[in-house]
Amino acid sequence: MAGMRPSGSVHLGHLVGVLTQWASYCDNADAFFEIADLHAYTTDFDDPEKIRKARNAMVAAWLAAGVDPAKATVFLQSGVPEIAELQALLAMITPVSWLQRVPTYKGQIEALGQKIDTYGFLGYPLLQLCDIAAFRGEYVPVGRDQVAHLELAREIVRRFNYLYGEGATVLVEPQPTLSEFAEVPGTDGRKMSKSYDNAIFIADDEETTTRKVRAMVTDPQKIRRGDPGRPEICPLFALWHFVNPLKVDGVAAECRSGALGCVQDKTEFAEALNAYLRPVRERYAFYRDDTALVERIVAEGTNRARAIAGGVLTDVKRAMHLL
Ligand code: TRP
Repeated sequence: MAGMRPSGSVHLGHLVGVLTQWASYCDNADAFFEIADLHAYTTDFDDPEKIRKARNAMVAAWLAAGVDPAKATVFLQSGVPEIAELQALLAMITPVSWLQRVPTYKGQIEALGQKIDTYGFLGYPLLQLCDIAAFRGEYVPVGRDQVAHLELAREIVRRFNYLYGEGATVLVEPQPTLSEFAEVPGTDGRKMSKSYDNAIFIADDEETTTRKVRAMVTDPQKIRRGDPGRPEICPLFALWHFVNPLKVDGVAAECRSGALGCVQDKTEFAEALNAYLRPVRERYAFYRDDTALVERIVAEGTNRARAIAGGVLTDVKRAMHLL
């Protein structure tokens, strides 16, 4: 089980860090993928139209990346009210101090301040647990920044089972599964993120992609061709690993010896990246233009998700002696 907030455009970091993993789960597991629109409201509550618009485009990118709605359940969080009910119930046993000490909470409060000093934002990781618990999710493919949320999720699950389980495991403890490329560098070398303005988007055209690659940061000590470079500190080199792993050894050797200059490396990489993204971008355009298809996939998935979440909610209420 995994979710993504519809708050911006899907970029290369999502694609190689998360979505390729999601696609492989479609074949190997009973997978659930959530449009986490309520999570988007925890920070962007003042821009509901943005969240609404991002929804279909995000799902189009998932489908383009290989998420298969015939095998996995793709659903809308706000369309499954059982998740919100679960949150109200689990809130009873969730200490505020546990939520306050989550690093993303502390960090975001420092960054955004008063604006997100809300009950909803404090409850962000609890809502995330409810997303997962509603489907008894065992494996959660996420980036490294989400590991602390899953840590908290497991603590709340343990507390629930201890208080109400009577020896049985009513809820399961979810585990994060990190992909090899969980942290993808952006064009400036920091983690690729829409908010750092360093991302290459699936929705970008090839020209824009090439321009962004040309402006990428490389080893600052390698000024001109002939200077020996240090691939290990170069974000462009890091990106070669997944765009074309076969090129990695050659690029490393030629960069170190100085034979390969950064300008040439960028030209070759931009071509390789565009070739890598081309089929994804074609599928993306197809789904983006067929809104009816995307909405039907989400509606069907949401119905299926509700049926399953309803069963779990009943078990939780029984355990709590509400039923
Ligand atoms: N918090 C996750 C993120 O920012 C998104 C998310 C919401 C999620 N619900 C989830 C991830 C459930 C995994 C499982 O990336």
